[in-house]
Amino acid sequence: MNPVETGEPLARLDSLVKRYRTARGRRQTALDRFSMTVPARAVVGLLGPNGSGKTTALKALLGLVRVDSGTITAFGQQLPRDQHLVARRVGALIEGPAFTASLTGEHNLRLLATLHGVPDSTVAEVLDLVGLTPDARRAYSGYSLGMKQRLGVAAALLPSPDLLVLDEPMNGLDPEAIRDLRPLLTHLRDDRGMTVLVSSHILAEVELVSDHVTIVRHGRVISEGELSRLVDGTPDRVVLRLTGPQSLRDRARAVLSDRGIGITEDADGPDELSIDTGERAPAVLRILAGHDIYPDEVHHRSASLEDAYIRAIHAADEGAAAVAERDGGRYAR
Ligand SMILES: Nc1ncnc2c1ncn2[C@@H]1O[C@H](COP(=O)(O)OP(=O)(O)OP(=O)(O)O)[C@@H](O)[C@H]1O
Ligand SMILES: [Mg+2]
Repeated sequence: MNPVETGEPLARLDSLVKRYRTARGRRQTALDRFSMTVPARAVVGLLGPNGSGKTTALKALLGLVRVDSGTITAFGQQLPRDQHLVARRVGALIEGPAFTASLTGEHNLRLLATLHGVPDSTVAEVLDLVGLTPDARRAYSGYSLGMKQRLGVAAALLPSPDLLVLDEPMNGLDPEAIRDLRPLLTHLRDDRGMTVLVSSHILAEVELVSDHVTIVRHGRVISEGELSRLVDGTPDRVVLRLTGPQSLRDRARAVLSDRGIGITEDADGPDELSIDTGERAPAVLRILAGHDIYPDEVHHRSASLEDAYIRAIHAADEGAAAVAERDGGRYAR
C-alpha cells in the first residue's frame, strides 16, 4: 500500500556505511552508521556542515552511490534492488543541474519531458510553480544562479514525483528567493501530497523551509524530529550583558560555575554570557549580587533551532568521548 496513505514513513535509511577510496588510496568515511527516517508528506531538512555526508546519503537513497553496508527502504521497496520500481516516483536535483547553455529554459525542460515521457503541458506547469514563466524563453546561458537553481527544481518536478530530493537548493539564492521557496515546498506537500527532502549546511535556511529536521555530523545522524519538537525540547536561556573588563566576565563565569551553573560561549555579543540551564534569572542575579557583580542587562531568550543544534553536537561529542574512554582511550571510529 502507498505509505503516504498509511502514515508509515516514506523511506528509511538504516545504519548506512560508505567509505570512499580517495585518489591517494586512503579511505574516507562519508557515512558512519547513518540512520534516518523520512516521514511522508513533510518537508524534511537534512542539516549538517560541509563534508558531513548529506550528498552521499541522498545519492545512496537515489541509487547513485553504492553503500558498503546498511539497508534502504522506500515506498515499501528494498533499495537498490528495487530502484527501478521507485525511480518514477522520485524527482531529484543533486549537485547542480546539467542543462544545454544555448537553449532556453523551456526548451531544456521540453527535451527532458520527452526523455521521461511526460506530456508537454507539464513543462509550463512546473515553470510556473518555480516562478520562471517570465524567463522561460531566455537562453539558459543568460540565467542567474538563482534562476538556474529554480530550473533545476522545475526539472526535478517534471515526473510529478511523490518524493522530491533537493541537494542544497538554496545555494546561490538570495534571501528573497529562499523565502519564496518555502511556500512552493509547502504547496507541494499540502496540495500534491509530496515529501520533500532538502539538504543544506545553513541552519537558518533549514529552519525557514522545513517542518522536520535531521541533523547529521561526521556521517552520522545525531538528532532528528519535528522542528517544533526539537526546539521545544531545548531549554531557553538567560542572557546577561556584563560590560567592563574581561576579568569581570571571567569572575562571573567562575562564580556561577562554582554553583554548577553552565555558561555557553555562543552568546550574541562580546559582553554577553549565555546561561544554558533551567535556572531562572532572579536566582542567577542573586548569586552574582552576592559577589558584587551587577549585570547591565538581563534577558530571556527562547530556544531556537541553533540551540537545539548546538545541544545535539555537544551530546554527540560527549557520547563519543564516553565511548573513547570505555575503549581505553582508543576512538571507536
Ligand atoms: N567521490 C568521492 N571520493 C572521495 N571522497 C568523497 C567523495 N564524495 C564525497 N567524499 C567525502 O565524503 C565525505 C562526505 O561528503 P558529502 O559530499 O556527502 O558531504 P556533504 O555533507 O554533502 O558536504 P557539502 O555540505 O560540502 O555538500 C567528505 O569527507 C567528502 O570529502
Ligand atoms: Mg553536499
